[in-house]
Amino acid sequence: MKKIFILNGSRRKEGNTATFISSITNKLKDCEIEIAHPQDFKVKACEGGEECFLKAGCVEKDDLPLLDEKILSSDLLILASPVYLHYMTGELKMILDKLSWWAHTLRLQGKPVVLLSTCSTNGQDTVIKPLGEIINFMGGNVIATANASMVPDQINNPEWLDSVSEEISSRITKSIIDYPKANIFTEKIFSASRISMLEQVSYFEDNDIKNGELEFWKSSGMLEFESFSEYLVSKYQNKES
Ligand SMILES: Cc1cc2nc3c(=O)[nH]c(=O)nc-3n(C[C@H](O)[C@H](O)[C@H](O)COP(=O)(O)O)c2cc1C
Repeated sequence: MKKIFILNGSRRKEGNTATFISSITNKLKDCEIEIAHPQDFKVKACEGGEECFLKAGCVEKDDLPLLDEKILSSDLLILASPVYLHYMTGELKMILDKLSWWAHTLRLQGKPVVLLSTCSTNGQDTVIKPLGEIINFMGGNVIATANASMVPDQINNPEWLDSVSEEISSRITKSIIDYPKANIFTEKIFSASRISMLEQVSYFEDNDIKNGELEFWKSSGMLEFESFSEYLVSKYQNKES
């Protein structure tokens, strides 16, 4: 059964963001859905060292690996957050900070991602836009984004909620049975990041420095491909033929 992992950055497990999420998940059939909140995990704040980039993983001992596994093993990821002071919640940002190295390695590898936010009056894209950029750099394929506001009242408007949820759930249903994909944003990021990685190979090899991000580019096979889509086809589709 296909797995959907949802990380809701809200401090309220039964708040507006949860209402928006469930209006979508109620329409989904035949998939395993797990909803988590940052407060369900003991994730220490990033201490600001940059060892994680060299190591390709956080050096702290906390619940982050659990969360990594839930995100990476899912077939589709939903990230949601209420707007707090024109941004995502600090709790969600704190988790994403700890996954910063994913933004150098397209770690989500074409996984379909849905981005949701809720706000009071003025946060139409204040969460969606930065989250979209982060997910593009992490190699996720954003297939739908939506914000539900309180003014005008969308979150308590059954017609609005139903029509937006219908569109998003139908995109989820289509994407989840398809292979992970590149898009124009992840393709550009792949090309630029790959050039940068190729330029660094000799520096790290000559100085005998182990760089975890470079190792990921090598071990995944990404370094050998000219484009993200060719790489993803080889990773997910050719494997089964
Ligand atoms: C600390 C805090 C900051 C907020 N900042 C904004 C804001 O900048 N713009 C806005 O439109 N709503 C803002 N809101 C309202 C929430 O985004 C809105 O009520 C949201 O739907 C709450 O989601 P929840 O019920 O899942 O927590 C803020 C709420 C809180 C608690």
